[in-house]
Amino acid sequence: MSTVAAETARETPDDPGRGAEPLLRARGIVMRFGGLLAVDDVDLDVYPGEIVGLIGPNGAGKTTFFNCLTGMYRPTEGEVRLSGTVLPPRPRKVVMAGMARTFQNIRLFANMTALENVMVGRYCRTSSKALTSILHGPKYRREEAETRQKAQELLDYVGLGASAEILARNLPYGDQRRLEIARALATEPKVLLLDEPTAGMNPQETRDAERLIFKIRDSGLAVVVIEHDMRFIFNLCDRVLCLVRGATLVEGTPKVVQSDPRVIEAYIGTGDGTDSDITEADEAELAEIRAAEAKAAQAAGGHRRAKEDQA
Ligand SMILES: Nc1ncnc2c1ncn2[C@@H]1O[C@H](COP(=O)(O)OP(=O)(O)O)[C@@H](O)[C@H]1O
Ligand SMILES: [Mg+2]
Repeated sequence: MSTVAAETARETPDDPGRGAEPLLRARGIVMRFGGLLAVDDVDLDVYPGEIVGLIGPNGAGKTTFFNCLTGMYRPTEGEVRLSGTVLPPRPRKVVMAGMARTFQNIRLFANMTALENVMVGRYCRTSSKALTSILHGPKYRREEAETRQKAQELLDYVGLGASAEILARNLPYGDQRRLEIARALATEPKVLLLDEPTAGMNPQETRDAERLIFKIRDSGLAVVVIEHDMRFIFNLCDRVLCLVRGATLVEGTPKVVQSDPRVIEAYIGTGDGTDSDITEADEAELAEIRAAEAKAAQAAGGHRRAKEDQA
């Protein structure tokens, strides 16, 4: 692999807080788009209770790497394991296995309430009958009530408890990002991947996001976070990986990465900014997610209409 400084900071078996087995292990991930090598032989290990940062100039391949980890792309080469098991490149299977993510471009059901958005996340942990039941039998109703209660608890957890009935599109931007995190948590992940969770946030919202991510880590999850805000990343993360042109340039503690001249150099002259273009692959994936979750959305919407009819 092309890592230069990785050796200096690689995990050792006696590192505190680390078991022998990483929770998430990606090996030799390569992603080519025609002639473009977007991800070039990247390795990543994430241990339980760790917050790992992924940095690098715009176009470095950070989001593409996330897409490879989460089954949105089938990597050209390489393997992703969660708790030792190889993950198939299928987004829903990856979610079921215990890895959830948020998106650089927020992907909420705009016309559903905050609560319903989180309920959609929960449906992957309830029986499939809950999705399709038209008769709304007792089992469905029980599961539905549990799902609703769990969703409300998650809204409370991310600080959106009072916004449960607000349509996602009417929430302030920072709240939409928190709602995405709540929806990801609803799938009960072991690893949470956050793609630019503070993009567009004001300093107060950024501090709140930082607190929330620490809280999530303290609850036992591992977190991998892509961000451009260096102060945020170096304060938050136990370990940071810097990608440049698809390859790992440096990996290590914030202290090591922060003071590496190559990292500073990589950012100079790139005219770096956040990229909010939605690629074709994003669109295809979005269509797949929407198709897979349409039933869940219908179930939640049907319930709301039924309640309105009763009122
Ligand atoms: N679906 C795609 N098809 C073709 N090229 C892509 C696709 N997705 C990303 N790329 C390219 O891969 C490179 C890495 O992009 P990306 O992973 O979005 O970078 P980052 O998230 O680090 O800003 C860029 O050159 C981008 O244009
Ligand atoms: Mg990106």
